[in-house]
Amino acid sequence: MDIIKIRSLMPNINDMTYLNTGWSGPSPVYVVDAIKSRLELESFNGPTSPEILESAQKIMSESKVLVSRLFNCQPEEVMLTDNTTDGINIILNGLPWKPGDEVVLCDLEHPSVLLPAYNLQSSKGVRLRMVSIDLDSNHNDIRQSFASVITGRTRLVMFSHIQYSTGLRMPVSAIASVAHKVGARVLVDGAQGPGHIELDMNALGVDFYSSPGQKWLLGPDQTGALFIRHNLIPELQPSRIGFGFSSNFNLEGRFEAVTNSIDKFSMSTTSAPLRAGYNAAVTKILSHKMPEIEKRNLELTKILKNSLSSVDGVKILSPLEGAECSALTTFQVDGVDSDKATLKLWKNDKIVVRAIESQQGIRVSTAFFNTEDEINRLVDAIKQLSKKR
Ligand SMILES: Cc1ncc(COP(=O)(O)O)c(C=O)c1O
Repeated sequence: MDIIKIRSLMPNINDMTYLNTGWSGPSPVYVVDAIKSRLELESFNGPTSPEILESAQKIMSESKVLVSRLFNCQPEEVMLTDNTTDGINIILNGLPWKPGDEVVLCDLEHPSVLLPAYNLQSSKGVRLRMVSIDLDSNHNDIRQSFASVITGRTRLVMFSHIQYSTGLRMPVSAIASVAHKVGARVLVDGAQGPGHIELDMNALGVDFYSSPGQKWLLGPDQTGALFIRHNLIPELQPSRIGFGFSSNFNLEGRFEAVTNSIDKFSMSTTSAPLRAGYNAAVTKILSHKMPEIEKRNLELTKILKNSLSSVDGVKILSPLEGAECSALTTFQVDGVDSDKATLKLWKNDKIVVRAIESQQGIRVSTAFFNTEDEINRLVDAIKQLSKKR
């Protein structure tokens, strides 16, 4: 992987150390240019002139094809969304719930999983079963913990592919097969998935996978994609109704609802410029080949973990090795407040990381475009913080 070439497309981050792709990745010039040129095209030629409308349609259908290549699924199984949380809501509000149904989730989750689930509990009488995961759990432990609460009452099992809090990579296919044995559906929050690790919806065995454009793909905000397994599309009811709901209706109130097409969830006008930026981002990621990107992301994490483990006062909360690892690393520095440390790292050293409140830790994302020099810079800055405490 030619990092010098990749960095030449990201001049925006040369005067800082950007290690927060797990929140939002910096868009390279090819993404910025795609958004800009589409916006200019629309504004100079009239956004609804026939050729421009047709080309907007093409951008949307191309986007589904690109996602289908990234996810190894069919374009007809892809819904273009605004972000991960949007997709999670489409599934949770679209499934046919009965009082007494159970939803299984775990205690490392992001608010985008927790809050929609809490809302379901209070609005639909659904019971939540929370799995507790110890930080040193391995895949087998995690599978067993899920298996111990999945029963015939379980309607849905939902969890993040990679936990935002510690970077723990979950045993998705193992949990999915336990869930499927009792007829439950599996929804994965894939906020940290695309552009970070290789994805294959068939190998993962999930029913629904919700993902963003703005993180590891380095796309713009407000772009996402939701995978819905084709045979499950009819089971879901759109909770918000827009243009895609029916193509056959009259002024007397009669309408025929679309049931089998994923387009039934489409609302109304969406941004072709942002989608063009997303498409440019996915195209580039596909051209680098995901296994190569994943390898580099994980190699950088290893270097970071090795260096951090020798720093006085540092406790790494993320898995140290094995299939549980991802390119997110969360750690605490003894006696140092993570919120204040994050601000200091920016102010003193122009380093961007984030604090994880639930773990009282600092989280670092090592993405393929980052360099070993940047990791060394961070580790030196952490040594300084640790010395001054
Ligand atoms: C695991 C996880 N889920 C959900 C989200 C929210 O993602 P989005 O802003 O795409 O809805 C994040 C963002 O940080 C995340 O890490």
